Amino acid sequence: MTKKAGDGGDKPQSCLTGSPFELKPIDFQSHSDLCVGFRTDSFVCSFGTAQAFLGSDNQGGDRYVRWLQGKSQERPGSCAHLWHGSRIIGQMELGIIHDSSPCGYVYLIYLIPECRQRGLGTQLLQGAESLFRTWGASRARLRVSPTNTPAIALYKKNGWYQTGAEPDADHLLTMEKRL
Ligand SMILES: CC(C)(COP(=O)(O)OP(=O)(O)OC[C@H]1O[C@@H](n2cnc3c(N)ncnc32)[C@H](O)[C@@H]1OP(=O)(O)O)[C@@H](O)C(=O)NCCC(=O)NCCS
Repeated sequence: MTKKAGDGGDKPQSCLTGSPFELKPIDFQSHSDLCVGFRTDSFVCSFGTAQAFLGSDNQGGDRYVRWLQGKSQERPGSCAHLWHGSRIIGQMELGIIHDSSPCGYVYLIYLIPECRQRGLGTQLLQGAESLFRTWGASRARLRVSPTNTPAIALYKKNGWYQTGAEPDADHLLTMEKRL
């Protein structure tokens, strides 16, 4: 990954300078807690609270890690951490769903706060779209909270468009892209 032209402004540079970026499959032995932390924050970014994720029994994190491990095993490389040198700065969770034809599915794109608005989300999304093509998908889909302005802006800017809401999640926007 390369630095986005024009980056800088008043943000600390530590996020992007020096080391290379690398996507590596999630190491669940070492980084399950980090996955839960990232997912929790993505709920806060999306809904203002992570209560629906954590659940009334507070076991949502464990349920999520089991789900994520299953997804990883189904399709190696589909659930990855974004490393910058020796530091994990993001996470991507992808899959394929099958309705009329294989369709790429973005479950999560996540960057730590200091690494946002530097073009990395765009690079992760474009990487996801390339992977979907190699997995035989000719279109891709995701769901996003209608109040998650940065995420919606990212998707629209990259050619994703809104479709009708899905019946099991009519509080979310469904977006798609032809690949
Ligand atoms: C959503 C997310 C991945 C975007 O990543 P990012 O690296 O900040 O996105 P980019 O820098 O590539 O921005 C792409 C475009 O999105 C828009 N955008 C990004 N952040 C924005 C913000 N805070 N406000 C308004 N627009 C924003 C801009 O149009 C931007 O293009 P530009 O810089 O050329 O104007 C990041 O904000 C994030 O990790 N959020 C928390 C997790 C999350 O909500 N994930 C999505 C769940 S569905």
